[in-house]
Amino acid sequence: MLSSDESGLTRASELLSGGGLVAFPTETVYGLGCDARNDLAVAHIFEAKRRPHFNPLIVHLDSKETAQSYVNWTDAAERLAEAFWPGPLTLVLPVREGSGVSSLVTANLPTLAVRVPKHPIAVALLQKFGGPVAAPSANLSGKISPTNAPHVASGLKGRIDAIVEGGACGVGVESTILGLKNVPTLLRPGGIPQEAIEAALGEPIALHQPGDALTAPGQMSSHYAPSAPLRQNVTDIRPGEILLGFGPVLGATLNLSEAGDLGEAAANLFLHLHELDTLATGTIAVSPIPNHGLGRAINDRLARAAKPRP
Ligand code: TXA
Ligand code: MG
Repeated sequence: MLSSDESGLTRASELLSGGGLVAFPTETVYGLGCDARNDLAVAHIFEAKRRPHFNPLIVHLDSKETAQSYVNWTDAAERLAEAFWPGPLTLVLPVREGSGVSSLVTANLPTLAVRVPKHPIAVALLQKFGGPVAAPSANLSGKISPTNAPHVASGLKGRIDAIVEGGACGVGVESTILGLKNVPTLLRPGGIPQEAIEAALGEPIALHQPGDALTAPGQMSSHYAPSAPLRQNVTDIRPGEILLGFGPVLGATLNLSEAGDLGEAAANLFLHLHELDTLATGTIAVSPIPNHGLGRAINDRLARAAKPRP
């Protein structure tokens, strides 16, 4: 565990330069970072997470200007970056020739996912390292994303070089991913609500269809799964179930937000799922969550967790 002070970040940056794997906090969830130009380091990320190689990674950069040197920029990208960067929005754009980014990062696709995070520790680390950092969420593939350092340690201890301690993540669900290669398309709902993106663009965005060719593979069915089975939109709990509530419901073991606040619910989502997973002997039942704003990202993650396991 590294501290997020000057000496901790210097050590983290040295580890990245040497091809190491370093987990660090972002405003959404903890990421597992490596030098995006180093093939071997990127290969180690896939190994450490047991992640399928066809699932590409997001590259984290310290500014819009840096991002522009890795991808071919568009007017829509400009508008969105001005509105939401730094922050929990990932843009998928055509990768620039000679970008230097490992082909393992893009899984050989012609596009690259770029994101400029807002978390001060992430920003400080990116600036100190001075290069592109490929970083998936710092969990074993198919498990719940980590929103604090102990979550990272419980999944990846002994498989990575260091964790920068940075407390709990404020947003709590992963970034929104928007494809901009063709018409703006929502590939994954996340920390920036669809409504806000549409307002910034001045037009509705297309929604990703499950059968579409390239996708944000976060859509694999067992993604975000706790070990216990999960049931959504529950108003009547069944015997043996424990309830993850939302709003002023009775009988909840944990509540995402008693006040019915979607931001608070997103921040609590993975934390509470981690905890209920250790308590549950039966099914985790979850109260209905309104499907707007951050509620879309929450329902998306719950729906994946509720899918039958392979
Ligand atoms: O908030 C986040 O985005 C966090 C933090 C650490 O930044 N990262 C994260 O990474 O959630 P990961 O790897 O768990 O999810 C990234 C998603 C995957 O579903 C991947 O398939 C998709 O981004 N992705 C990456 N590159 C892509 C591309 N070129 N085209 C389409 N989808 C892409
Ligand atoms: Mg992930």
